[in-house]
Amino acid sequence: MAAGALGLALVAAFAVALAGANSEGDALSALRRSLRDPGGVLQSWDPTLVNPCTWFHVTCDRDNRVTRLDLGNLNLSGHLVPELGKLEHLQYLELYKNNIEGTIPSELGDLKNLISLDLYKNNVSGTIPPTLGKLKSLVFLRLNGNRLTGPIPRELAGISSLKVVDVSGNNLCGTIPTTGPFEHIPLSNFERNPRLEGPELQGLAVYETNC
Ligand SMILES: *[C@@H]1O[C@H](CO)[C@@H](O)[C@H](O)[C@H]1NC(C)=O
Ligand SMILES: *[C@@H]1O[C@H](CO)[C@@H](O)[C@H](O)[C@H]1NC(C)=O
Repeated sequence: MAAGALGLALVAAFAVALAGANSEGDALSALRRSLRDPGGVLQSWDPTLVNPCTWFHVTCDRDNRVTRLDLGNLNLSGHLVPELGKLEHLQYLELYKNNIEGTIPSELGDLKNLISLDLYKNNVSGTIPPTLGKLKSLVFLRLNGNRLTGPIPRELAGISSLKVVDVSGNNLCGTIPTTGPFEHIPLSNFERNPRLEGPELQGLAVYETNC
């Protein structure tokens, strides 16, 4: 009786583990479907495998959970997908130096283990989602060289782990945050944003003027 219950519990746990692994593969397959890949660098992304851990450019931890996506400089275009927010163990999202268009999905704010978000030198537009302020493990946020608009969300100033922020070469507006991690970010990492007005003056609220 007890052994039977244990067996059932094990089967249930195994099924949950499998479902978890498959959902990460599904999320990556959704990304692949929304990208153009003229160099065929995602050919190893076989959705029929039990998990995505043997796919090129994907790294997993010992529990077969995806921790890195290394897709920098691979001539990819197309769009990011909200499903990326399901990769809850992801630490490094590297998509720099491609030609990715469209917006940054607000669901990326769900990646609570994310250390590095590198989207620099693409063709990403829209605003920086305020949900990125939920990334409490984030150290590197490099969004430079895109076509981002709107203000720098003040939610980012609440990420105490943040060491590197680069949003230069976009079309952001409003003022530059100066509190929290932003105390140590050089002004050059905000340059080439013609509508950005310089550091915010404490006490003078309303950073979104003309923005
Ligand atoms: C990069 O992608 C473009 C289309 O998006 C294609 O025309 C070009 O040949 C690709 N270059 C390489 C090196 O794959
Ligand atoms: C960037 O995207 C826009 C459309 O959103 C397109 O018109 C433009 O050609 C793209 N730039 C490059 C360098 O591909």
